[in-house]
Amino acid sequence: MVTEDLGRDHYIQVMSEYRDASAAYLETIRRELPLYDRLQDELIKATYGVAVRRILDLGCGTGETSRRALEAYPDAELIAIDPSQDMLQIARAVLPEHAQLRLGYLDEPLPKGSFDLILSALTIQALPPHQRADLFPRVRRALAPRGRLVVADLVATDAAGRAAAVHRTDSLAGLQGRMRDGGLVPAVVWAESGLAVVTATA
Ligand SMILES: C[S@@+](CC[C@H](N)C(=O)[O-])C[C@H]1O[C@@H](n2cnc3c(N)ncnc32)[C@H](O)[C@@H]1O
Repeated sequence: MVTEDLGRDHYIQVMSEYRDASAAYLETIRRELPLYDRLQDELIKATYGVAVRRILDLGCGTGETSRRALEAYPDAELIAIDPSQDMLQIARAVLPEHAQLRLGYLDEPLPKGSFDLILSALTIQALPPHQRADLFPRVRRALAPRGRLVVADLVATDAAGRAAAVHRTDSLAGLQGRMRDGGLVPAVVWAESGLAVVTATA
């Protein structure tokens, strides 16, 4: 299918710098994004108040968000998805045994059932724009009643112009617009230096 092919090509291009460097991923991302840990902290804070039984992590990478989420909600079921076997191997080593890791792309069907929290850090904005648009309606359908989507990601600002050009990143308003188009109600909970945490409910 054309859409999937485009997605994979884009993935390979955008992620090539990480592809052979999964083991060094955290070191690299912390160097490139000095606010990486702050972003992850703000993502977890943005989950507070939800009764959490099931969590889905979209583009989990080495498992940093999933690890923090299971620290906050140790009894929750968690499914984490990423297309990189190398990233998932590292995630497996840092996550508790009950965490379920799935090899897959976000243009594929989401796991069955509904989720109280759907989390995604630094992944959605790297998807091609048409895949971003297609994802949010599917996320809305996967949210449990009173469930919450929390996206922590790059957003285009003048100061973040280079990243915006490379990834065709949405502005904060653009990201919220995509969420609204997908039937979600967004709220910005934190934004600094070209990074933002946006929650959304159905
Ligand atoms: C910058 S890393 C972020 C990883 C992790 N969420 C974090 O915060 O450290 C982006 C992740 O998105 C994954 N990814 C890239 N394209 C994807 C796609 N189409 N579907 C799902 N995951 C994708 C990559 O394999 C990579 O692990």
